[in-house]
Amino acid sequence: MIKAAQSGASSNFLQAYSIIEIADNDLRRELAKISGSDDYVNQTGVFYIFVADWYRQAQILQTENKDVKALQNMEALTVAIVDTTIAAQNMAIAAESMGLGICYIGGIRNDIDKVADLLDLPELTVPLFGLTIGMPKTRNEVKPRLPRANILSVNAYNRVTVSDLQAYNEQTSDYYANRSHHQKSTDWTQEMSNFLTKPRREDVAKFLKKQGFTLN
Ligand SMILES: Cc1cc2nc3c(=O)[nH]c(=O)nc-3n(C[C@H](O)[C@H](O)[C@H](O)COP(=O)(O)O)c2cc1C
Repeated sequence: MIKAAQSGASSNFLQAYSIIEIADNDLRRELAKISGSDDYVNQTGVFYIFVADWYRQAQILQTENKDVKALQNMEALTVAIVDTTIAAQNMAIAAESMGLGICYIGGIRNDIDKVADLLDLPELTVPLFGLTIGMPKTRNEVKPRLPRANILSVNAYNRVTVSDLQAYNEQTSDYYANRSHHQKSTDWTQEMSNFLTKPRREDVAKFLKKQGFTLN
């Protein structure tokens, strides 16, 4: 699975990520508590943290007495986040292809400073999310994705079809009402409207600045 993660494409071969395997159970419990996903983080087979990482390149530049500002701007941060996410999703697909189950754990960003402390993360690194991988006790139904017309435009963004969610709301309402676990009476539009009522994790920007990113 690590090999699958490393086989992912990488912008300019920068490989701007690191993976931390959480082998210590006390540490795993702390991360589980922060993420609010205690059950599966604690019980899963393996738990990895994916870190967007420019520290390695910073060391190269500093050794050669060069400025690290090429690593600090928003574009550099975007590149590292994309590289990290590609690696994680490659790992997720490899795991699922072997019959394993996965769950991304963005909940680690509930207290991103604490996570960075616990993992002893240096400057120019960001803990983006965790990934649990284990043998699933049960298999969930596949969640219906947005219809193709809602996500695929040709030549230019199609505001009308992309935002017409009527068909998808009917589909998701049916899915939520009838799935095996955590049934609920809702649809995708309602879920989005409830979830996005206020900005979340507003301390992330402050953390990124502390890590050395300019956000410019
Ligand atoms: C990047 C990312 C981060 C996620 N973080 C979490 C998490 O911290 N905890 C969790 O339970 N699920 C997490 N998930 C999984 C989805 O949020 C989860 O499938 C969804 O909340 C289930 O809700 P629903 O089936 O009721 O719509 C994450 C998924 C992704 C792609």
